[in-house]
Amino acid sequence: MRVAAFGELTGPNGVTLTDRPTPDPEPGEAVVDVEACSINRHDLWILEGDSAMVDADDLPFVSGLDVAGVVDEVGEGVTGVEAGDRVVLCPNETCGVCRFCREGPENRCENFSLYHGGLAEAARVDADRLIPLPESVSAAEAAALPTAYVTAYHMLRRADVSPADLVFVPGATGGVGVASVQLADVLGARTIGTSSSASKLDRLDELGLDHAVEGTDPDELREAVTEIGRPDAVMNHLGGPYTGLGLDVLRRAGTMVVCGRTAGGTSEIDVPDLFLGQKRIVGSTMGTQTDLERLVELVADGELSPEIDETYPLEATDDAFAAMRDRESVGKILVTP
Ligand SMILES: NC(=O)c1ccc[n+]([C@@H]2O[C@H](COP(=O)([O-])OP(=O)(O)OC[C@H]3O[C@@H](n4cnc5c(N)ncnc54)[C@H](OP(=O)(O)O)[C@@H]3O)[C@@H](O)[C@H]2O)c1
Ligand SMILES: [Zn+2]
Repeated sequence: MRVAAFGELTGPNGVTLTDRPTPDPEPGEAVVDVEACSINRHDLWILEGDSAMVDADDLPFVSGLDVAGVVDEVGEGVTGVEAGDRVVLCPNETCGVCRFCREGPENRCENFSLYHGGLAEAARVDADRLIPLPESVSAAEAAALPTAYVTAYHMLRRADVSPADLVFVPGATGGVGVASVQLADVLGARTIGTSSSASKLDRLDELGLDHAVEGTDPDELREAVTEIGRPDAVMNHLGGPYTGLGLDVLRRAGTMVVCGRTAGGTSEIDVPDLFLGQKRIVGSTMGTQTDLERLVELVADGELSPEIDETYPLEATDDAFAAMRDRESVGKILVTP
C-alpha cells in the first residue's frame, strides 16, 4: 500500500510517498481501506518538528487521525464491525483502567493518546474505536469530524452553551473555528468570529456566523467584539494574546474554553478580572467516542454539514499541508487515499 510518510520534520516538503506492506489485523483490530483522512494543525506541527510526540527517532512517521473508509478485514474476537462496513474512527487511545477511564469522560484519561496512521491507503486500528456510518453520511463528511468537530462540540458543552448565548470564536475559519461556529448555530447560539482575511469571513456567512470581525490586533478586536456584545463563552484554540483578549471581552461569570496554542503557548491574563468577574477558564482536549457518535447522527439528520475546503489525493499530501500552513482554507482539508 502507499503511505504519505513524514520523512523529515521540515514542513510540507518533508512528506514522501512510499510503499509499505498492507497490515494484517491483530486480535481486536480491523484494517480499514482509507477513503478519506482529514488533516489537523496537530499533524502540521509534527511535520514541522514542533510536537513533543514525534522526534527524529520515529521517522518515517505516518500521521493522520481522522480516518473514514471501509473495513477490509477484522482480527480475532472482533464482533462490532465486519468486512464491508463503512466506518469512521474515533482516534482516542485510552488506558481503560485509570480513574477517568472508569468514571468518564474518557478523554480525560491519564494516559490519553491519539491514533496516527490515516495518511495511507489502509489503516490498522482498534476495532472498538470504529463507528458504523449511516448510508447518508459520506466518508468525506465523516473524516472531517473526529478531531475538529468533536473538540469544538466538547468545548461548547464544557461552556454550557445554550440557545441565544453569544459565543466568541477567535480564528473562526479553520477546522476547530468553523466547527465551533456551525455547532454553536446548531445549539441556537449566536456567534462572533474573527479572521485576518475578509474573503474567508465572507464564506462563514453561509455557515451561520452572525458577526464577522476582520483583524488580528487584540485592541481592535476587543473594541469590535464588545460593541457587538459581551460573549457568554469564548472558544479559544489560538492561545497567545487571544487568551487575554478572550478573558477581557467575556461577560461576568462567562466561560472561556482553551484547546490550542496556534498563536502562542503562553498567555498573559488580568488576574483581578478573572476573580472579580467570576469568570472561568477551562482546558479541554478532544472529546468522547459518544460525542463523535452524536455528530455522525447530526450529519445523518441533516442538522450539520461539515465544511470541507479542498480534497487532495495521497500524492498531494504535501500540498494539503502547505495550504494549511499558508492559511488558505476555510474549514477542513481532506486527503483521499
Ligand atoms: N486540544 C485538542 O484536543 C485539540 C483538538 C483540535 C485542535 N486543537 C488545537 O486547536 C488549534 C486549531 O486547530 P485546527 O486544526 O483547527 O487548525 P487550523 O484549521 O489550521 O486553524 C486555522 C485558524 O487559525 C487561525 N490562525 C492560524 N495561524 C494563526 C496565527 N499565527 N495567529 C492567529 N490566528 C491564526 C486562522 O486564522 P486566519 O483566518 O486569520 O488565517 C484560522 O482561523 C490548534 O492549536 C490545534 O492544536 C486542539
Ligand atoms: Zn485511562
